[in-house]
Amino acid sequence: MSVRTTGRVLVFLWTVTVVLGQNGWSVTYSTQSICIFKGSTVDLSCSYSYPSKLTVTSTFWFINNDAEGNPVNLINDPDYRDRVRYNSNNKNEHILTITDLRKSDSAEYMFRFITDQTGGKFIGRPGVILSVPGLQVNVVGENTGNTLTCSTTCPLPGNTTYIWYKNGQHIDESTSAQYKDSVYSNYGDSYSCAVKGHEDLLSPTVCVQGQDCSRVIYTKRRICVLKGSSVDISCTYDGYNDVTSSLWFSPKQSGRWRDKLIPEDLTTDPGYAGRVEYPDQESRRSKGPFTLRITDLREEDSAEYRFTFKTYYNFEWGHSLPGTILTVTGLQVKMTPSTCNEGQNVTLTCSSTCTLTDNPTYTWYKKNVASPKASGQSYSITNIRSEDSGEYYCEAKNEYGRLNSSTLFVDVHYGPKNTSVSVSPSGEIVEGSSVTLTCSSDANPPVYKYTWYKKNETSPKASGQSYSITNIRSQDSGEYYCEAENVISFAKSPALTIIITGKQNSFMNAAVGVTVFVLVIICLSGFMCFRKKAFKSNSSDRRNSRETAESAHPDSNSDMYTALNMKNRSPEYDTLTAVHHDPNSDTYTALNMKNRSPEYDTLDSGRDPIHDTDA
Ligand SMILES: *[C@@H]1O[C@H](CO)[C@@H](O)[C@H](O)[C@H]1NC(C)=O
Ligand SMILES: *[C@@H]1O[C@H](CO)[C@@H](O)[C@H](O)[C@H]1NC(C)=O
Ligand SMILES: *[C@@H]1O[C@H](CO)[C@@H](O)[C@H](O)[C@H]1NC(C)=O
Ligand SMILES: *[C@@H]1O[C@H](CO)[C@@H](O)[C@H](O)[C@H]1NC(C)=O
Ligand SMILES: *[C@@H]1O[C@H](CO)[C@@H](O)[C@H](O)[C@H]1NC(C)=O
Repeated sequence: MSVRTTGRVLVFLWTVTVVLGQNGWSVTYSTQSICIFKGSTVDLSCSYSYPSKLTVTSTFWFINNDAEGNPVNLINDPDYRDRVRYNSNNKNEHILTITDLRKSDSAEYMFRFITDQTGGKFIGRPGVILSVPGLQVNVVGENTGNTLTCSTTCPLPGNTTYIWYKNGQHIDESTSAQYKDSVYSNYGDSYSCAVKGHEDLLSPTVCVQGQDCSRVIYTKRRICVLKGSSVDISCTYDGYNDVTSSLWFSPKQSGRWRDKLIPEDLTTDPGYAGRVEYPDQESRRSKGPFTLRITDLREEDSAEYRFTFKTYYNFEWGHSLPGTILTVTGLQVKMTPSTCNEGQNVTLTCSSTCTLTDNPTYTWYKKNVASPKASGQSYSITNIRSEDSGEYYCEAKNEYGRLNSSTLFVDVHYGPKNTSVSVSPSGEIVEGSSVTLTCSSDANPPVYKYTWYKKNETSPKASGQSYSITNIRSQDSGEYYCEAENVISFAKSPALTIIITGKQNSFMNAAVGVTVFVLVIICLSGFMCFRKKAFKSNSSDRRNSRETAESAHPDSNSDMYTALNMKNRSPEYDTLTAVHHDPNSDTYTALNMKNRSPEYDTLDSGRDPIHDTDA
C-alpha cells in the first residue's frame, strides 16, 4: 500500500489504513488524508472485499451525489473528466489518479463498488480527505511586539521553506513557519509569506496594525492569453496615503544591484515599444486601479509582471513580492488517436500551452473548405473516411483577440480499394506473344505486396505489381486476379479473362493463304475480263485490292470480305472475318468487330465492369 505522487512532490499524509464494513464487505484505503500542492498529480488507492460468491459489475470513485442521491462517477464529472484515470487489478485493488490538482479538488473521495446481487453495493465511508493547502499570515501579540506565523490549511512537509515579505520586499527565508523576529506595530507595514518552489502558494498581504497599511493586490495571479491579442494586467492599491508614482516591470527585463532588483518601467523598454500603455492615467496619482496593457502579444512576453509604487513620506513598495504570471500561447491541433484508420472515431482538440483565461469560442476549419466544420474546443469526427484527409486548423476568439492555430494534416489510412487488373497490350492475345498484367489499387499507406493468382490454381503465379507472361501458350488461358496488401488489409481484384487465340504460325499460313487466294482471284478476273489491257492496269488492280485488304474491317457490304468469309469457312478461320496485315509489324491481329464477345470488352478496358466490386 502506498501513495504515489508526481510533479510537485510535496505531500504530507497520515499513513493510517482504514478498514470498514461487515460480513465480508469492506473498502480499505491506503491513507486517510492527503495534503498536496496545486498542480501535482496524486494517486488514491484502496482495496475492497465482498462475499466470494458474488461478481463485481462496477467500480468507481466519487465525491458528490446526483439529485437522486446516487454517487456520480468522477469520470463523468466535467471538472474531472480530463484529469482522472482509473487503474485496477485482479487483486481487488483500485487506484484513482488525479492530475493537475486544483484548489477546488479539496474534498472527500470515496470508492464504491456494485455487485450482481440485488442491493449488493458498498461505499467505503469515510473516504480519503484531499486538501490543497492555502497560506495565511497570523498576527498575534501586543503593540510592543507581534509574532507572525505562516499558517497552512493542511500540514506541509517538515522541510518546507517559508519566505517572508515586508511591504513587498523579501526579508527572510526559513524552515520555521514562525517569523524569527518580533514585529513592532506600525500602521504602514504589511507582511506576507510564501512557500519556496511553489509560487502559487502565497498568502494574502496583512497589516500588522489596523487596516490602513500599504499593499498591492493583484487581480489575477496567472493569466493565459492568445498570441497576437492584448491583455490588461491589473492590481489594486490599498493604503492610507495616495500613490505619487508607480510603474509596472518584469523581473526578467530588470537590472539587479547587490541582489536587489532595479525595476525598469516597461513603457520605456524597447522590447515593448509601442505595445505597452497604462490606460488608467486618471487614477495613477491616487489610489488606482493600476493597469498594464500589452498589445500584439508575443510568446516572449510570457513572464511575471510586478507593480511598484511610491507614496508620500518616502514610502516605497518592494520589488520582490510575486506578481502576475502571464503566459502567451499559440494554438495547436492535437488528434486522438494520433494516427487513424478509416472507420475510426477521431477527436481533434484545439490546444494551448495554458488554459485560456477569458473563455474563448473555438471554430474548426479544413483547408480549402470555405465554411467552418464545427465549433467547440474539440471536434469529433465519427467514422472517419478517406475523404476526410486534409489539413485542419482551429480558431480561438475572445474579446481580446483571435488566433488561428497551425494546421494539422489528418492522414486517414485505409486498406486497398478499387483493386483492378489491366492488360497490355490490349486486344486479342496470340499464342507465342507476351502480355503484361498490371495490378492497380488505391491504398494508404501504399500497397507493399501484390500477389498474382490464376483461378482454379492453388499456388500464386507471381508477385510484384506487374506480371509478364512471355511466349504465352493456350494453356495459359484462364482467369487472372491479383491481391493487393498494405499494412491495414488486403483486397482481391475482380478476375480478368485471358483467351489465347490460334497459333502465330497458322495465322501466318492463313494470311499467306488469303493473300495468295486474293491474288489468284484478282489475276483470274483480270485475265478473263481485261485480257487486252496492259500489264500496268493489272498491277494497279492488285494495288487497289491490297489497299482494301489492309483497311479491312467489318463492312458487310464489302464483297471481298463476304467472299472470304463464305468461301474459306473452316474451324481454324472461325474467328477471322478479316485479316489485317500491319506492314509495320510482323504480327497479325485478328479483328472480330461484329461478334465482339464480352471477354474482349474486358480486355479492352482492362476491367470487368460487372465485377467492379472487391472480391
Ligand atoms: C523535502 O523532503 C522530501 C522528502 O521527504 C523531498 O522529496 C523534497 O525534495 C524535500 N524538499 C526540499 C525543498 O528540500
Ligand atoms: C464511433 O462513435 C459512434 C457514435 O458515437 C459509435 O456508435 C461507434 O461505435 C464508434 N466507433 C468506434 C470504432 O469506436
Ligand atoms: C482564421 O481562418 C479563417 C478561415 O480561413 C478566417 O476567416 C479568419 O479570419 C482567420 N483568423 C485569423 C485570426 O487569421
Ligand atoms: C477506380 O480506379 C479507376 C482507375 O484508376 C478510377 O477511374 C475510378 O474512379 C476508381 N473508382 C473509385 C470508386 O475510386
Ligand atoms: C474452375 O473450376 C470450376 C469447378 O471445378 C469450373 O466450373 C470452372 O469453369 C473452372 N474455371 C476455370 C477458369 O477454369
